[in-house]
Amino acid sequence: MHDRNFMWFLCIVVCFLYPVDGGTTCLSCSSVESVIDCTHLERCGNNEICFAHKYVTESKSELYDFGCTYQKLCVPGSSGSIFGKRLSEGHHIVCQTCCNDTDICNMKSSCVTNVANTSSTGHSTDSKLPRECDDLTNTTTGVHTIYPDGIRPTQVYCIMANNEKWTVIQRRFNGFVDFYQDWMNYKKGFGPAAGEYWLGNDNIHIISTTTGHKLSIYLEDFNKNFMYANYSYFHLGNELVYHNGRQFSTKDEDYNGHNCGVRVHGGWWYDYCATSNLNGPYLAGKATNTSAMFWYGWPSYFYSLKKTTMMIKRIS
Ligand SMILES: *[C@@H]1O[C@H](CO)[C@@H](O)[C@H](O)[C@H]1NC(C)=O
Ligand SMILES: *[C@@H]1O[C@H](CO)[C@@H](O)[C@H](O)[C@H]1NC(C)=O
Ligand SMILES: *[C@@H]1O[C@H](CO)[C@@H](O)[C@H](O)[C@H]1NC(C)=O
Ligand SMILES: *[C@@H]1O[C@H](CO)[C@@H](O)[C@H](O)[C@H]1NC(C)=O
Ligand SMILES: *[C@@H]1O[C@H](CO)[C@@H](O)[C@H](O)[C@H]1NC(C)=O
Repeated sequence: MHDRNFMWFLCIVVCFLYPVDGGTTCLSCSSVESVIDCTHLERCGNNEICFAHKYVTESKSELYDFGCTYQKLCVPGSSGSIFGKRLSEGHHIVCQTCCNDTDICNMKSSCVTNVANTSSTGHSTDSKLPRECDDLTNTTTGVHTIYPDGIRPTQVYCIMANNEKWTVIQRRFNGFVDFYQDWMNYKKGFGPAAGEYWLGNDNIHIISTTTGHKLSIYLEDFNKNFMYANYSYFHLGNELVYHNGRQFSTKDEDYNGHNCGVRVHGGWWYDYCATSNLNGPYLAGKATNTSAMFWYGWPSYFYSLKKTTMMIKRIS
């Protein structure tokens, strides 16, 4: 009896931390300010190992990511030790721990100077995984998995047309997903890849800063009219400054001083407040003001569109 209780007790402790049929247990957190803030554990797949990733944002805050990754995505020779620090351009530091032999092995997070095959943005440059739709070999339009930073999988909708493979960053067509989201959700992304979604400013930034990208915006009204707005160069800056200088704002983070995210109910590159607002409310047709999913005067003023697709592609 005692033995049995003890076995249960042991199992509660051990079975949780050392799962029989899984891989390593790793800390798992994104963008935490301190190592001790990360209390969430994740059981990795059989072939995965832990990583720790420290970086400094442009606004000079230090953040950590923890999780599981594949050994082959680690810089060669990094197993079990801490490596990677980069200060070029003055604002990025990268440290990663990859190991294979201890549980919760990414708990160590001190950072030593070393060389690593990481770019100045701190993403794996060794990764052969597809970073955007353009890298996929499957040329069927639909949901695919990409790895914008070379490590983390993200589901995305890819549009394959005319021998071009586009990564969709925003898509709306039925109003099912609420786009009146806060800064953190615009940063991380929201909505299902098969439905309406915003890919997330972090991912859009990573993808659009690797090489030059063009942007194509598809718009459709309720009378079967459609148009494209094509831009030959698109780039979303680290702190979300649109290339023409306007900053991205949401209801809780106002970067233009006019509280536009709240006034017109969206997250967008507002300019007091909006000349376009494709993340605004889905009102399906006639609107009374700019608090709607609208695009300049097309097809008319104060009109909430039926469909929008914003997609980017590497400039070849
Ligand atoms: C785990 O890493 C150690 C070095 O830390 C290495 O010697 C060993 O071969 C690795 N084992 C596996 C299964 O990759
Ligand atoms: C970086 O990657 C290149 C090519 O993949 C390789 O030749 C080089 O040895 C790597 N450097 C380090 C420090 O791992
Ligand atoms: C190609 O992608 C489509 C759309 O995601 C998917 O349905 C199909 O199974 C994929 N084909 C292969 C061979 O992976
Ligand atoms: C804009 O880009 C899309 C996607 O490549 C293309 O189908 C469309 O013809 C382009 N439209 C214009 C006006 O350039
Ligand atoms: C836009 O119109 C709606 C509905 O008439 C109204 O509730 C909202 O306050 C208006 N917003 C602005 C910014 O004028």
